[in-house]
Amino acid sequence: MAQSVTIRRPDDMHLHLRDENTLRTVLPYTVRQFGRAIVMPNLKPPVTTVAAARAYRERILAAVPAGASFEPLMTAYLCDNTDPEEISRGFNERVFTAVKLYPAGATTHSEYGVTCTSKVEKVLDVMQELGMPLLIHGESTEAGVDVFDKEAVFLDDVLKPLLEKFPALKVVLEHITTEQAADFVDADRSGRLAATITPQHLLLNRNAMFTGGLRPHYYCLPVLKREQHRLALRRVATSGSSSFFLGTDSAPHERGAKEAACGCAGIFSAPTALEAYLTVFEQENALDRFEAFASENGRRFYGLPPNEGTVTLTRERNDAPRSISPGDNKSIETFMGGGELSWRVSEERAS
Ligand code: DOR
Ligand code: ZN
Repeated sequence: MAQSVTIRRPDDMHLHLRDENTLRTVLPYTVRQFGRAIVMPNLKPPVTTVAAARAYRERILAAVPAGASFEPLMTAYLCDNTDPEEISRGFNERVFTAVKLYPAGATTHSEYGVTCTSKVEKVLDVMQELGMPLLIHGESTEAGVDVFDKEAVFLDDVLKPLLEKFPALKVVLEHITTEQAADFVDADRSGRLAATITPQHLLLNRNAMFTGGLRPHYYCLPVLKREQHRLALRRVATSGSSSFFLGTDSAPHERGAKEAACGCAGIFSAPTALEAYLTVFEQENALDRFEAFASENGRRFYGLPPNEGTVTLTRERNDAPRSISPGDNKSIETFMGGGELSWRVSEERAS
């Protein structure tokens, strides 16, 4: 039984950092283990311009603990009226790494999102030309679609036609949760389609939201699915396929916003995510494939160089806190915090 695992320093290809006190509180947990992260733009107001992304990047860099190195990779929030010129300028000036498409109304702070992909075709043309990735929250917003079917319906109604219309556009289907999405991405041989997978969707099925009562801290979007889907995600994540990579979707919300009559979607996993993923790879007898999923597949898809240095995880009780506080007597619950995991990041080496 392996007692320690050392991998090249990984990247988190889907991360919510928020802003101000929350940013300053949550960022060190990511920086501790990840070299880079794709930072989501769903602030209030959303990050839609090059200037806003530059300013946000500066605030993130100012919150990196002294002596640590970390590169935030910024994204633009796509709106119906996004100017293609703003996107190409941001990409060429190395401010925007990618563009995030939220279907309007699909999730947290998505109200400025895209109402119909036909509205953004000029932007997609430009991105296709530039080789700039489109990151998609893949859930249907059609009225009447069952909440557990939203991802599968999105694949048929939106994603497949979009991929046909833009045959060279690079696309990441973010935080996939279903067998349909896993099989669809797995079957693609073009190399321009990939998917991120969160730790919670690999470790939990939808029962977790209802054990003994309503469990708001296991509520995220896309929502946890039934066991068959969790097993499909574990299969593709640990298969060695380069189309799947790590993206935590760590999404902090303070306790009061989650334990509420209308609770927010999002699971804060930054302090424990790497160990949670490793737990899955160990359970699936795939420790030899962990590094590709965490440190190689994503950065290759984005055309980034490998990170310098390594992280070592050792088999010991994980002492990540059960919750953290951004001040003002608020707290944010940690996914699998408080000793639930038996791996721990014990060491980082610069190179
Ligand atoms: O659970 C989620 N939380 N899903 C999302 O798509 C957004 C995220 C957030 O920003 O809180
Ligand atoms: Zn997200």
